Amino acid sequence: MCGIVGYVGAQDAAPILIEGLNRLEYRGYDSAGIAVIQRGQLKVRKVSGRVADLQADLPARFKGAPGIGHTRWATHGEPTVDNAHPHVDSAGRIAVVHNGIIENAEELRAKLQADGVEFTSQTDTETVAHLVAAAFRTGGAEDLEQAVRYALRQVVGAYGIAVVDTEHPDRIVVARNGSPVLLGIGEKEMFVASDVAALVGHTRQVVYLDDGELATITAGGYRTFTLDARSTAKTPSEVDWDVVGAEVGDHAHFLVKEIAEQPRSIERALRGRLDERFNTAHLGGLNLTVREAREFRRVKILGCGSACYAGDLGAQLIEDLARMPATSESASEFRYRNPVVEPDTLYVAVSQSGETVDTLAAVQELQRKGGRVIGIVNVVGSTIARQVDGGIYIHAGPEMSVAATKSFTSTVVAFALLAVHLGRMRDLAPTEGRRILDGLVALPGQIEQILDDEKRTGTIEAVAREIAQRPSVLFIGRRRGWPVAKEGAQKFKEVSYVHAEAYASAELKHGPLALVSPELPTVACVPDDDLHEKNVSTLAEIRARKGPVVALAHRELSAELADRTIVIPQSEPELDPILMSVPLQLLAYHAAVALERDVDRPRNLAKSVTVE
Ligand code: G6P
Repeated sequence: MCGIVGYVGAQDAAPILIEGLNRLEYRGYDSAGIAVIQRGQLKVRKVSGRVADLQADLPARFKGAPGIGHTRWATHGEPTVDNAHPHVDSAGRIAVVHNGIIENAEELRAKLQADGVEFTSQTDTETVAHLVAAAFRTGGAEDLEQAVRYALRQVVGAYGIAVVDTEHPDRIVVARNGSPVLLGIGEKEMFVASDVAALVGHTRQVVYLDDGELATITAGGYRTFTLDARSTAKTPSEVDWDVVGAEVGDHAHFLVKEIAEQPRSIERALRGRLDERFNTAHLGGLNLTVREAREFRRVKILGCGSACYAGDLGAQLIEDLARMPATSESASEFRYRNPVVEPDTLYVAVSQSGETVDTLAAVQELQRKGGRVIGIVNVVGSTIARQVDGGIYIHAGPEMSVAATKSFTSTVVAFALLAVHLGRMRDLAPTEGRRILDGLVALPGQIEQILDDEKRTGTIEAVAREIAQRPSVLFIGRRRGWPVAKEGAQKFKEVSYVHAEAYASAELKHGPLALVSPELPTVACVPDDDLHEKNVSTLAEIRARKGPVVALAHRELSAELADRTIVIPQSEPELDPILMSVPLQLLAYHAAVALERDVDRPRNLAKSVTVE
């Protein structure tokens, strides 16, 4: 979690660091800090709170470069000023920012304390600052690279770090092991960050470090090497994100901006992938020959949070269209189960950020056992994207709000393409392939319609205001509506802090019906499909117990069945869940706004969960 940014060049670092931290704040936001070298002296400023507080606290004379900055999501120690990064050695020479967890921090701390080092924080990171200083004092290091290598050889754990040294004021040394670090190449200046979002606006040329790699960056360039000082060769990549995608613009929040972007993000997910001639999908990045793809008998999908729920919908699409058994599971559970890995199963890892530690660990466990894993990922060049054997980039652009929206719908679109691709190699008829492709192409216009209807009528906002006042909300759905309900409940609770729970409609009788009363609103997915009558019976059961009902449906339901109907356009039945998800995103958004929540940065959460 946590974000790192660094700058070396002729400009003052502070404004660049603050801008980068603002873009990274979704990674963690309980404290923030920056350090710059000003005429051979280290200047450090830290706050407990947001980047905006840090910016407000920064004196005008906070000048100089290089500099490093950090926004934190606390793991070791409370989010106090002392525990905020950067951490500095006792002589005030070395400053360090760090993402990840140093597992042997206690042991290192005890050793350093025995040597007389005094600690000023409870963090694991501070040990690195003291170790780098000790490398110069007693370890025989002559330059910063050597000193950082000396320090890291003693460290066990995951890190992405950036280090500055007043004695080497022309450089930043960075290192990666399990926590992302990338270099941004500018004109006579260099940047470093944990996340590409911090670099948009400065450069599109980036270099991703691999685990076990370090780099020294100066205004003139960079050099990469390993812990045992062997040089490594890197090829810069081009980033396709633009600065507009990473800025809130005229919108009140990133969340509502990203909801509104979905027509365009879905178009990008489809671009170049529709094969009109054979009524299938082109997915060149899968790196699978037809023969290989046909040999798979099953599909297993792994992800966390919204990525997992998108995977639930993906599994249904693959079963429906490719007629292959498919299931989705939380990657965090899967990785600890000592899973049976089968050669005829195609594994799919889903991750917006491409950095979620549990999903990455699941991929690594699968690959260790010989499993073939493809990814459905948003962030190009991210760790999971580089770890998998092939995949589909969803090209949703930067998603800055913690709650996933456009990445969710674009992931489901990618699954629809994958399902058609696998299906058309098997028994999916060309006309059926065509039906789904036409349905996909129509989605952007239909989402526009949902957004326009809401602008015109304000129905969803009105419903949100009402149900936000209740202590709890139930979300229900059947078959494809069930993952929609899960994602709807997740969105609702994470941004509004109102308890929300999702149930498969048929399970209602097995427990939660006991909760139904005039106090508990139910949000129900009621698509016009072959299960419509069953859904209607469920609503009748709820209404018989005086439970308020908000229905998501393709036509207005009678007052006996629902107090309010949110009417949405109809797609192909397999794709309806994509459209149904959009009003539920708006419902969560408006409830959060009504309750004056921190919409884009819900308490205790972070966008990419890179620690266990
Ligand atoms: C966090 C975020 C969720 C997200 C999940 C998986 O919990 O708050 O919105 O769905 O991580 O993230 P990923 O980047 O792997 O999709």
